[in-house]
Amino acid sequence: MKDLAGKTAVVTGAASGIGLGVATSLAKAGVKVMLCDIEQGALDAAVARLKETNADVAGVKADVSLKAELQAAADATLERYGEVHILHNNAGVTGAGGYGAWNDASWNWTIGVNLMAVIWGVEIFGPLIERHGQGGHIVNTASIAGMISGSGNPYNVTKYGVVALSEGLRVELAPRNIGVSVLCPGFIRTNIVDSFRNLQDRYADAAHAVGAGTDLPTWLGGIRGRIDAGIDPMYVGELVREGIEGDWPYIFTDNEFEPYIDARFAGIKAGFDRIRGREPRR
Ligand SMILES: NC(=O)c1ccc[n+]([C@@H]2O[C@H](COP(=O)([O-])OP(=O)(O)OC[C@H]3O[C@@H](n4cnc5c(N)ncnc54)[C@H](O)[C@@H]3O)[C@@H](O)[C@H]2O)c1
Repeated sequence: MKDLAGKTAVVTGAASGIGLGVATSLAKAGVKVMLCDIEQGALDAAVARLKETNADVAGVKADVSLKAELQAAADATLERYGEVHILHNNAGVTGAGGYGAWNDASWNWTIGVNLMAVIWGVEIFGPLIERHGQGGHIVNTASIAGMISGSGNPYNVTKYGVVALSEGLRVELAPRNIGVSVLCPGFIRTNIVDSFRNLQDRYADAAHAVGAGTDLPTWLGGIRGRIDAGIDPMYVGELVREGIEGDWPYIFTDNEFEPYIDARFAGIKAGFDRIRGREPRR
C-alpha cells in the first residue's frame, strides 16, 4: 500500500510496546487509527497522548481472545471511520510452560491471544478490507520464535502458527488486493515480560505453569534483561509502516538471530540430503 494518508488502520495490543509504536508511526503518516486493547487505562492514556499530536485516533477495549469482542471492535471501527484498510494483529502474551510444566490453561491462554485472535482478526476484518475495493494490508505479529524454536513451549507454537497463517494468506489474498506481512521481532523494549498483568480469570491456572525448564519468575527474569535492553518499539513501528508501504513478506527488526535461522535451514536441508536418491515405496 503506497499512499497511507487518509486510510484507516486497526491495531490490536496498541496500548503498549510494539502496537503503540505502530499506531504512532501510522498516525504520523496520516492514517486514522483505531487502537484496540484489553487494558482500559493504558488504552485511554495512549489514545490521549496521540490525540495531543492532532492524530485522528480512537480506542476500543476488547479481549481479542474472545471472538465476539473482536467483532464488537470491528463494529466500533466501522461506526467511527466507515471503512478499514489496514489490520495489524499484534496483541500477544508470553504464555508459560515448558515440557513437563505446561497446563491446559497456559496452552489455552497463549493459543487464544497469540493465534486464535489472529485467525479471527483475518476472518472478521478481511471482508471489510475487501469490500471497499481500494486494497489493503494485514500485518500479523509473530516473533523470531516463529522462525526458530528453542523449546516446545506454547509461545513458540503459536508464533510458528502465525508465520504459517501469514505465508499462506499472502498467496491467497494477493489476488484480492490485500498484502500480508508477518512481523518477527527480536528483543524489543516493551512490557511483554509483564504479560500476566492481563491474564483473564478463565485462564487463571496458567499462573501455575512454569517457564521453559525453570520456575516462572526465573524464566521471565531471564528474558527481562534482554527486553529491557531491547530495541525501541517506536523504531519497530516505523519498520512496520515501511513494510506495509513496500509489501514486505517478512518484517525483521534486526539480524541477531539470522545465524540460528540459517542453522535451522541447514538442518532441514540435511534432512532432505539424507534421503536423496532413494525411491520412495508407493
Ligand atoms: N517485546 C519483544 O521482544 C517481542 C518479541 C517478539 C514478538 N513480540 C510480540 O509482539 C507483540 C506485542 O507485544 P509487546 O512486546 O509490545 O508487549 P506489550 O505487553 O508491551 O504489549 C502487548 C499489548 O497487548 C495487549 N493484550 C494482551 N492480551 C490481550 C488481549 N487478550 N486482548 C487485547 N489486547 C491484549 C496488552 O494489554 C498490551 O497492551 C506480541 O504479539 C508479542 O508476542 C514481542
